[in-house]
Amino acid sequence: MHRFVTIPTEGMDTPTAYRLVCGAVAPRPVAWITTLGADGRVNAAPFSSYNYVAHSPPMLAVNIASRLGELKDTARNIRASGRFVVNVATQATMEAMHLSAADYPPDVSEVEALGIELLPGVAGPVPRIAASPIHMECRLDQFITLGRGLNTLYIGEVLAFHVAESIYDGQHIDTVAMQPIARLGGPYYAALGEIFHRPALQRPPGEGPGAIPAKKP
Ligand SMILES: Cc1cc2nc3c(=O)[nH]c(=O)nc-3n(C[C@H](O)[C@H](O)[C@H](O)COP(=O)(O)O)c2cc1C
Repeated sequence: MHRFVTIPTEGMDTPTAYRLVCGAVAPRPVAWITTLGADGRVNAAPFSSYNYVAHSPPMLAVNIASRLGELKDTARNIRASGRFVVNVATQATMEAMHLSAADYPPDVSEVEALGIELLPGVAGPVPRIAASPIHMECRLDQFITLGRGLNTLYIGEVLAFHVAESIYDGQHIDTVAMQPIARLGGPYYAALGEIFHRPALQRPPGEGPGAIPAKKP
């Protein structure tokens, strides 16, 4: 049986709340997001307050905090252009992904500074990170400012998935071969550990007889 420490959040300072929520919600996948600035510069930065939030159509959400009261470059670019690409961060891309989180000024492209190789966007103008095995080209659906205004949730609809052939059989993504990297609380990352298999107890949505078909837009 665990013995618990109870920590009410009323009056809690922001750094403590950050440490607790990041430690409690772990591991988190890392969205390595590319955007285009108004000057045409490609911006890249990692975000782990991120997940998928819908699958009809597929939608992703990422929380971008403000920095000293100002929008981060990624947030500014998403608002201005309505487009972003989520590149999945992996073990192979961890070092470059991590370095791209440094506080580069808006007129410096992390991509140029770190020599990150790009591929052109297909569904939109934002380039994709070549070394990442999955790119999801997104159109901004809506953004919602949360709580006291420090955090904003950006929700994007995926317009196109690009999946490396080496991790895709045409039906399923091979997560083990993808080697995703996860963010933990504090300055730590983790790779996949042991994998457990259990048979699915429900049909995936939209599959098989009697399933509710997805509504047409
Ligand atoms: C692994 C990792 C995850 C991060 N997750 C977030 C996040 O979810 N939200 C956020 O606002 N910043 C997050 N950051 C910090 C941003 O990456 C950092 O502020 C970056 O400089 C923003 O770049 P930009 O100004 O080019 O958008 C994270 C950093 C790292 C290394």
